[in-house]
Amino acid sequence: MTFPSLLTLAQATSAAAIAAQPFVGRMDKNGADGACVDALRAVLGPADFRGRVVIGEGEKDDAPALYNGELLGAGQGPAADIAVDPLEGTTFCAKALPNSFSVIALAEPGAMFEPGPAFYMDKLVVGPEARGALDPDAPMADRLDALARAKGKDVGDLLVYILERPRNAQMIKDILASGARVSLNSGGDVLGAMLALLDGQDVDALMGIGGTPEGVISAVAAKAMGGDCFGRLAPQLPEEIAAVQAAGMDCQTWMGLDDLVSGERLQFCLTGLTDGLILQAPLRDSQAWMTDSLLIEGPSGQLHRLQSEIPIS
Ligand code: FBP
Repeated sequence: MTFPSLLTLAQATSAAAIAAQPFVGRMDKNGADGACVDALRAVLGPADFRGRVVIGEGEKDDAPALYNGELLGAGQGPAADIAVDPLEGTTFCAKALPNSFSVIALAEPGAMFEPGPAFYMDKLVVGPEARGALDPDAPMADRLDALARAKGKDVGDLLVYILERPRNAQMIKDILASGARVSLNSGGDVLGAMLALLDGQDVDALMGIGGTPEGVISAVAAKAMGGDCFGRLAPQLPEEIAAVQAAGMDCQTWMGLDDLVSGERLQFCLTGLTDGLILQAPLRDSQAWMTDSLLIEGPSGQLHRLQSEIPIS
């Protein structure tokens, strides 16, 4: 089975990153999200594959989204599950802050965990050195000991990326009490996962409760790159808690990499929307846009950095 080419995915996320540029710094999250969604649809709609959106993002914030179950592609060729966040870091984009992206992940049909009404998930993402070394149910001190051993570091040198939210306050205390350090962030779980997974970055793990869509997207990157990822549903909003309970979803058990995304064949593409730690914003001259993307293919984990020149029509 062949997926669309990675270049098609890069075209789609590049188109989204470019479409969002007029919205950077305008405090218009929905305008930016809508422009990204339209741009992604325009590229992937006619592409030569049959994709089904499993993670479309947006529902939690009532933002424009590719809806779950939406079919993308020209209806022929190979089938794929799609997890997409047309604009990851809408607030960063709205405030002209670093580290927003457009991201899309593909897996074999039926491979991705379908979160239904679950918007929030507790997560643990680590890089390849620590694959299989961590038990997410273990006390924090034991988790960090295992991570330090796997990485050949002292616990005191570990840096854990976590969203600064009241719901993560106890975990932040536990990390600090274990002697490790925290990178406290106002948003950007996919960035945290990428920093934990990529070689040569300071971050050793992503932890804490963030968005479920971002968890599944991160799981695709983790699996493709040989890292590890765990997720456990952690509904926060009253209507979310009720819907998750009504659907009988399990909020006790940690899902592992294969529960979040089964199968081996994976594609992942991330394009910078504002300048950031791992990617740059699109640059424009009189003729063309230049975009900056990371493309990852599983199971090989092969990583490509792509600068695309897109003529201005
Ligand atoms: P969006 O850009 O899609 O709004 O998500 C940004 C983000 O920071 C995610 O990375 C994170 O998982 C989620 O929001 C956390 O949600 P909340 O801001 O509600 O705590």
